[in-house]
Amino acid sequence: YMNYRVPRTRKEIFETLIKGLQRLEYRGYDSAGVAIDGNNNEVKERHIQLVKKRGNVKALDEELYKQDSMDLKVEFETHFGIAHTRWATHGVPNAVNSHPQRSDKGNEFVVIHNGIITNYKDLRKFLESKGYEFESETDTETIAKLIKYVFDNRETEDITFSTLVERVIQQLEGAFALVFKSIHYPGEAVATRRGSPLLIGVRSKYKLSTEQIPILYRTRNFENVKKICKTRMKRLDSSTCLHAVGDKAVEFFFASDASAIIEHTNRVIFLEDDDIAAVADGKLSIHRVKRSASDDPSRAIQTLQMELQQIMKGNFSAFMQKEIFEQPESVFNTMRGRVNFETNTVLLGGLKDHLKEIRRCRRLIVIGCGTSYHAAVATRQVLEELTELPVMVELASDFLDRNTPVFRDDVCFFISQSGETADTLLALRYCKDRGALTVGVTNTVGSSISRETDCGVHINAGPEIGVASTKAYTSQFISLVMFGLMMSEDRISLQNRRREIIHGLQSLPGLIKEVLSLDEKIHDLALELYTQRSLLVMGRGYNYATCLEGALKIKEITYMHSEGILAGELKHGPLALIDKQMPVIMVIMKDPCFAKCQNALQQVTARQGRPIILCSRDDTESSKFAYKTIELPHTVDCLQGILSVIPLQLLSFHLAVLRGYDVDFPRNLAKSVTVE
Ligand code: F6R
Repeated sequence: YMNYRVPRTRKEIFETLIKGLQRLEYRGYDSAGVAIDGNNNEVKERHIQLVKKRGNVKALDEELYKQDSMDLKVEFETHFGIAHTRWATHGVPNAVNSHPQRSDKGNEFVVIHNGIITNYKDLRKFLESKGYEFESETDTETIAKLIKYVFDNRETEDITFSTLVERVIQQLEGAFALVFKSIHYPGEAVATRRGSPLLIGVRSKYKLSTEQIPILYRTRNFENVKKICKTRMKRLDSSTCLHAVGDKAVEFFFASDASAIIEHTNRVIFLEDDDIAAVADGKLSIHRVKRSASDDPSRAIQTLQMELQQIMKGNFSAFMQKEIFEQPESVFNTMRGRVNFETNTVLLGGLKDHLKEIRRCRRLIVIGCGTSYHAAVATRQVLEELTELPVMVELASDFLDRNTPVFRDDVCFFISQSGETADTLLALRYCKDRGALTVGVTNTVGSSISRETDCGVHINAGPEIGVASTKAYTSQFISLVMFGLMMSEDRISLQNRRREIIHGLQSLPGLIKEVLSLDEKIHDLALELYTQRSLLVMGRGYNYATCLEGALKIKEITYMHSEGILAGELKHGPLALIDKQMPVIMVIMKDPCFAKCQNALQQVTARQGRPIILCSRDDTESSKFAYKTIELPHTVDCLQGILSVIPLQLLSFHLAVLRGYDVDFPRNLAKSVTVE
C-alpha cells in the first residue's frame, strides 16, 4: 500500500495493510508479516522495520501494537508499506520463514512473494558462494538476496529500482507475484508477476491522467542471461520508462486479489506476466521486454463491480454457510440474461463466436481440480447427450502427468472457481501449445485462466471466500449444462429434452430454497454423526459426482475420513467396509439408475448397514429400508445433482462446527492453490 501526498498516520497505514491481509486470509494463513518505514523521524524513510508472526493475521495485528518503538501517530506524507500472509510451501510456518523476506540484517531490500521459485536452490548456492548468509528455509529469501547482489554489483550509481527487479526476474524460474521495498529507493514501489496474479488499485480524488497505461518496452541490449553465475549482466536502457497515472495525491494498492483492496477503490489494473510496475514520485509506469509484435501495448484501468458487502459474512457464522444459503440467487445469476425461458434458448455471449468451431471438434476435454473437477464429472453425461461428442473429464494434475495426447481439433474446457489454480493453468498452457481451442469456466474476472483461454463463461456466482467450494460448484454445473443446451439448439431430435431441461433450470432457485429449509433436520443428523471417524457416501449415474463432492466437503472441513463410492463398484471391494457401525449415506434418486441403486441398498442392508438415504419425496420404496431419510424435491434427472449436493454441503458444515473446527479456514488448505 502506498500513499503519495496523502498524509496518513502509521496507525492508518497499519490498518490498511492488516485489513487487506484479513480479506486475503482465505488464501493462506499460517503466518504473516509487514514491512514499513521505521520510526526515526530524521531518517524515517531510510530505515525499514519488519514485524512477522506465526499464526493468523490477528496475531500479527496484536504484535504490531506491542512494538514500543512504533509511534502510531507519526504522519507520513508519502509511505510505502508491504504485508503478506503465508501458506508454507518451503520451510515450516514460523516468523523467520514468513514474508517479507530481507536481503540482509539492515533490511536494505525486502520482498513479499506469492508463488514458487523452482530454481531457488541453484541461486542460493551461487549467492552463498558470494558470501550472502541465509536465515530462512524459503525460496523467497533468494529473491531478496539476489536483488541486493545485483545492486551491490551495479555498474552505475543511478540504476533504477525497476531495472534491478527486471534483472532479478530474468534469473527466476517458476511462478511469482512480487512486491519490493528498499531503503535505497524511499517512497518507491516495484511489483512484478509471472504465473501468479497481481493487480494494482488506484485511488485519487483527482482525475487520473489516463485510462490506459501504455507499456514502455525495454529494448534489450544484452543477451538473455540464463544463469547468473555465468554471465555478467549488462545495463538496460531505462530512459523514459515513467508514465503518470496521477501526479497529484494518489494512493496505490498492490494485491494478489481484488477483495483485499475493494473497500478502498474499484479502479484496478491487472498486470500481465513479466510486467514490471514501478511507482516513483506518485507516478505509475509499467514496462516489459517486448516478446512479440502482438503484445498488448497498454494496460487498461478497469472498474470492478464487486462490492464490499458481497464479500462480508452478513448474519451467517461462516462464509461457507453464507455461500451455501446464497445458492438460490447465485444459481439464478449464472443463468441471468443467458437462458430465455420463453423461447427455450440459451446464449452464452463468451462462446457464441466460437460455436461453429466447437461443433466441428473431435471431442471435448473438461479439466479441473477438486470441486471443479467434480462439476465436470457431474455434467459429463448430459454433455455427451446434448453435444453428441465424446467427453473426457480430467483431473488437471493427472492429465499432465500422462502427457495426454491433445489435438488441434479438440476443445478443452478449464473449470476453476479462482481461475488461478496452478495445475489447471498448466494444463491450459499444455493444450494451447498443442493448438486446441481453450475455453475457461471461472468465477473470477481478470483471472489468469479467464485471460489465457480463447473464450469462456463467467459463472457469476459472486465472490466465494470459504475455502470449501459450494456455490461455485452449482454454478459451474449450470454453466456446463447451459453450454450443452446451446450446442444442441439445432438438433430436432433433442428438442423435447432441451425443453425439459430448460424448464428444470427455471424452477431450480425455488427448489434449492426448499432443500435449504431442511437445514435443521440436517443439523440433527450431524448431532448423531459428529463423533464418528468415517462416513461413506454412495451413489451412481448422475449422482456419482454428488458423492465425490459430498465426501470431499466432509473430509476437508471436518477432518473425518470420507469416501465417495460408485454404487456400481460396491461388490468389487467397498462392500467389505459395511457393518452395523459404519455410517453410510446413499443417494438414490428417481432416475434411470433407480433400480440399480435399490440393488446396492439391498446389499448394504443385508450386511446390517444402516443407510441414511437422500431420496425423492415420493420414494416410498427406498425409505422402507432406510435408517433415516432426507427427502428432496424432484427435478430433471440431469439437474438433480444440484439439489442432492446441498444436504451434503450443509451436513459437512454442521459436522465441522460440532467438531469445533474453523469452517472457513480448514487446516493445511488454501482457497487459491497457485502452486503445483
Ligand atoms: C474444495 C475446493 C478445492 C478446489 C480446487 C480447485 O472445496 O475448493 O478442491 O475446488 O482447489 O480450485 P479452483 O476451482 O479455484 O480451480
